[in-house]
Amino acid sequence: MKSYTRLIVVALVICAGLVILYSNLIVKEVNTRTDSVDTTVKTATTDLRTIHIQSRPVGMSRPHIRIPPPHVKISPIEVSPGFKSAIPQNTAFWNRKFYAGLKKLETWNVSQLGQSSTESTESLQANIPDFNSYPALYQEFLHSMHFRTPDLLINQPNKCESNGQPDRVTLLLGIKSVARNFEERQAIRETWGHEGLYEDNLLVRRVFLLGTPSLGDPDLRSLLALEAQQFGDLLVWDFKDSFYNLTLKEHVFLKWSLQHCSQASFIFKGDDDVFVNPKAVLSYVKSLDPEKASKLYAGQIISQASPHRSPNIKYFVPPSFYDGPYPPYAGGGGFIFSGALLQSLYSVTWLIPFYPIDDVYTGMCFQALAISPEKHSGFQTFDIREQDRDNPCVYRTLLVVHRRTPQQALRLWRSMNSPLLTC
Ligand SMILES: *[C@@H]1O[C@H](CO)[C@@H](O)[C@H](O)[C@H]1NC(C)=O
Ligand SMILES: *[C@@H]1O[C@H](CO)[C@@H](O)[C@H](O)[C@H]1NC(C)=O
Repeated sequence: MKSYTRLIVVALVICAGLVILYSNLIVKEVNTRTDSVDTTVKTATTDLRTIHIQSRPVGMSRPHIRIPPPHVKISPIEVSPGFKSAIPQNTAFWNRKFYAGLKKLETWNVSQLGQSSTESTESLQANIPDFNSYPALYQEFLHSMHFRTPDLLINQPNKCESNGQPDRVTLLLGIKSVARNFEERQAIRETWGHEGLYEDNLLVRRVFLLGTPSLGDPDLRSLLALEAQQFGDLLVWDFKDSFYNLTLKEHVFLKWSLQHCSQASFIFKGDDDVFVNPKAVLSYVKSLDPEKASKLYAGQIISQASPHRSPNIKYFVPPSFYDGPYPPYAGGGGFIFSGALLQSLYSVTWLIPFYPIDDVYTGMCFQALAISPEKHSGFQTFDIREQDRDNPCVYRTLLVVHRRTPQQALRLWRSMNSPLLTC
């Protein structure tokens, strides 16, 4: 009898133990859920979140659901029939991604477009038969090609306003640079990138577009912070500043412009090793009729190009990655477009998969919006005749010339603006 009671007591104790254990588990699960809810809320409401992608080994799958901040809208997008018919529906990876995205758009709504995950090595190997033979940097591009939301580490939120009121900016200069190019940036400030009023009422503003130096580079962060404080013209995002990430740079620049300078009539985007004649650019945009001025995409236009298939050159594109022609596009050294297009351009970059060559990508986006590029002989992104290069008079009619060293830019600027110059 006694042992019977003991047995019951032991059984009760075990049951009570189990109940406590189980309820603990439930509490834990609820906590985890709360955490994940918190994260989504943060993603949706904070401006830009810290993502430490570099600390993870390449090839690891890192699912990240990103929702664009609510104040940067993605507007309903329609891809032009012209663009669709230009992109062949074949087995190449990019082509398939593009058409899969279009299909999703039929059932999704635009507010869900921002969600994408990173490609794992396994998935890339499964989808690209010769993935393992791609150059290492190309493989790196593919791993992160869906990543669109780096943190903005240094911002210039008031670049285009005075006393809280938006300025009437005629031209915003967005200049692609890299951390170590201090000299290039300073020469631009002292010459063609000069901010302020031209002809009494045409306002020019300038920003430099930077990612972060790679691991193994000297740490220039405190110098950049000083430079940004001194000149107020640096935008620095937390992503690796590499050639294949220039499309990401384009995307975040569009987003920044939309957030902080959407009233700009025109936007110049170019490299820090070009020479620009701001007076010629301003007089060109002022000469446009209103219809053209609202839909401008102008530069040195490269037509009927197609992917380079030789692995040794910078612009190499493997056939299993993209197979098709290139749209006509403006050379990335320097081109101009209408600020009125910012919203639709930014929106369409959510739909068109990133491409490893930024100016080709820009051409795709404009073609998707059914906007044809405008040829202008004043854009010389492959430079001018050797015998003309030192003649300041030649530059009066030019808008953009590639390439000039900081010293050449200073010399040119001085001679072009000399009161003694007669052309
Ligand atoms: C689109 O998605 C948003 C957020 O997920 C939702 O609130 C809205 O109802 C959806 N609209 C349509 C037409 O499905
Ligand atoms: C682009 O930047 C991201 C974020 O820093 C990085 O993970 C990725 O490797 C970079 N891609 C290339 C091709 O450099």
